[in-house]
Amino acid sequence: MGDTRLLQRSHEVERFDTPELHALLADMHDTMHALDGAGLAAPQIGVGLRVVVFGMARNPRYPQAEPVPYTVLINPVLTALNDNLEDGWEGCLSVPGMRGLVPRHTDLRYEGFDQYGNRIDRFVSGFHARVVQHECDHLDGILYPMRIRDLRAFGFHDVLFPDQPLQDD
Ligand code: NI
Repeated sequence: MGDTRLLQRSHEVERFDTPELHALLADMHDTMHALDGAGLAAPQIGVGLRVVVFGMARNPRYPQAEPVPYTVLINPVLTALNDNLEDGWEGCLSVPGMRGLVPRHTDLRYEGFDQYGNRIDRFVSGFHARVVQHECDHLDGILYPMRIRDLRAFGFHDVLFPDQPLQDD
């Protein structure tokens, strides 16, 4: 946070299934897993393209959260399915050590493409919907602290959740 590349609108990917795109996705996959994140957007590693990855196995940190399949999502279009918003705690690899309470749409359709240019079209809810909204915000230069409605619900992970091991994003 503070790097102006995180505040730009990223550009659409125009060519799929290229060596450059596959190399970017390998980098993003490795970075996300090395840092134990639930998702990563290309601008977080300095690449201004509309590419996100996300996915999570069952996680004790989110006991109610359904597992999210590992997904590559390019040029995403998000559509909220209703007006329901829900607050939930978020972190971000670009805002290490912090957590904030962020409202997100509970029910979401997302469309886009995988790295081969195959269409993706899913209807999701809950944690899956939250992760997608968080990651796609990065493509529009939005970091989650910008969405916190009450900054009293923003702080250090270790202070807010002393019993939980630190894990970002
Ligand atoms: Ni993030």
